[in-house]
Amino acid sequence: MWKPPERIKHAPPPGGWPTVEEADRALWFRPIQLGSTRLAQRTWVPAMVPWRATEEGFVTSEVLAWYGRFARGKPGAIVVEATGIREVPSGPLLRIGHDRFVAGLRDLVETVRRASDGQTRLFIQLIDFLNIRRRPSPEKFFGRYLQLTDRYRQAVSEGRGGELCDSDVRQALLEMSAEDHEKILTPRDLEALRYGYREWVTDVEKEHIRRLPQQLPELFASAAVRARQAGFDGVELHYAHAYTMASFLSALNTRQDGYGGSRENRVRLPVEVLARVREKVGDDFTVGCRYLSEECIAGGSTVEDAAYFGVELATAGMDFLSLSRGGKFEDAKQPRVGWTAYPYTGPSGYECMPVVRSDVQGPFGRNVEPTARIHQAVRAAGLATPIVVIGGICSFTQAEEILRSGKADIVGAARQSLADPDWFLKARLGQGEAVRRCLFTNYCEGLDQMHKKVTCQLWDRLELDEAEIKLSADGRRRLIAPSWTPSKESGCTSDHLESPSPLK
Ligand SMILES: Cc1cc2nc3c(=O)[nH]c(=O)nc-3n(C[C@H](O)[C@H](O)[C@H](O)COP(=O)(O)O)c2cc1C
Ligand code: SF4
Repeated sequence: MWKPPERIKHAPPPGGWPTVEEADRALWFRPIQLGSTRLAQRTWVPAMVPWRATEEGFVTSEVLAWYGRFARGKPGAIVVEATGIREVPSGPLLRIGHDRFVAGLRDLVETVRRASDGQTRLFIQLIDFLNIRRRPSPEKFFGRYLQLTDRYRQAVSEGRGGELCDSDVRQALLEMSAEDHEKILTPRDLEALRYGYREWVTDVEKEHIRRLPQQLPELFASAAVRARQAGFDGVELHYAHAYTMASFLSALNTRQDGYGGSRENRVRLPVEVLARVREKVGDDFTVGCRYLSEECIAGGSTVEDAAYFGVELATAGMDFLSLSRGGKFEDAKQPRVGWTAYPYTGPSGYECMPVVRSDVQGPFGRNVEPTARIHQAVRAAGLATPIVVIGGICSFTQAEEILRSGKADIVGAARQSLADPDWFLKARLGQGEAVRRCLFTNYCEGLDQMHKKVTCQLWDRLELDEAEIKLSADGRRRLIAPSWTPSKESGCTSDHLESPSPLK
């Protein structure tokens, strides 16, 4: 992963853990309404892909254990990982593009209900992504993949006196220097050679890309109907990072069919998707989205664009807006031959999941001020849509300060929740000193990048001999965090949450 050259090591923000009485008064532990769904608290675990589904995208016992473990920390909401809405294979990522996936997803909902004693509301993130291929070897690329055009034939034939057959042209291109490739290949072919071929939403010469605005609303809507059938409280439409819907919102989207160019046109499809989803699931099912406060790439959408999108999406009836940042393909690191590009490896990836060795600003709460700007724009438009902020948040102090200053309405954490799935509960019960604090080194993210089962370095080697605990295939890592039982000494255990209380 790219890291800022300054490499300044930042200390974690003070925990500021509350006593039970302070937690009783804390905004973070107060309820909030998201459309038809009431969260018991404003705590949130955002989507995190754990690589535990079957190759066909079905829920497994490991998926159940993963979400059940987060649910034991009783956050206000958990968003299930990016789940594919189409009938296309995507490795061990969850899928929801057909009715056959509903039964497994129903088990998942029931697991979370049980493990959280009904305290945690469950959403599922719905994703569409375009084709991306592995980086080819130059031999494969020039021998098989490159479409030979007259431009290439001429470029090679010139200087060699006379026409060459296609296989000689391919061989000549293969033998050229990197500088010559830069001069001769089109930018797209150069990208395909160096990073692997990737479809863009602007490839409108391809029918399936041209027709995305006609196809996606129905695909998202059918997936949302299945989510409802499975018992989820709602869906989060994935309009963030490097995927199809984010690419429509992107300032780099130059489509000329009314779905690209101006901000008005770029937000058209995201609004049309919402409209179709809403038509099919009704008003009593929560529908929100995750999108970017900033793309953090050259020429990408800015926070001003995001403020505009926020107002449009809220006006169109989103029940919540969850803000992330960066995470794009455009500045991703070159993958090794045989690997696919990964959108969290460049500077925009750093903005999405910043690490502890950082620039002057540091990794903590980097997304808070841009989110505050969007929050302000949405409120100025007279809209009350709840706004979720995520990114480098790992303490009670940070969360409470964000809520008190009105910069967001819900505060979530991905890596801190992975480091300690009980951290919300510990803080709520006045036992915050027991929180296992995330180191922000991105060991977990490295596993994700290698498509390995995600775990945390702080607990994956602990108590490996625990009865019935599942280990990784090499037997070296446990797959879920060790259990935690609230201490009785504080006089406040999780039973406290189940008695009639202001949390309900
Ligand atoms: C292992 C891992 C998997 C992730 N998977 C997703 C995902 O499926 N969808 C998504 O929108 N974000 C995903 N993210 C990004 C997180 O939701 C979050 O935005 C990011 O980690 C920054 O928040 P944090 O600082 O609280 O970790 C993932 C992050 C990690 C570490
Ligand atoms: S592996 Fe590192 S960055 Fe990831 S959750 Fe654990 S401590 Fe945090």
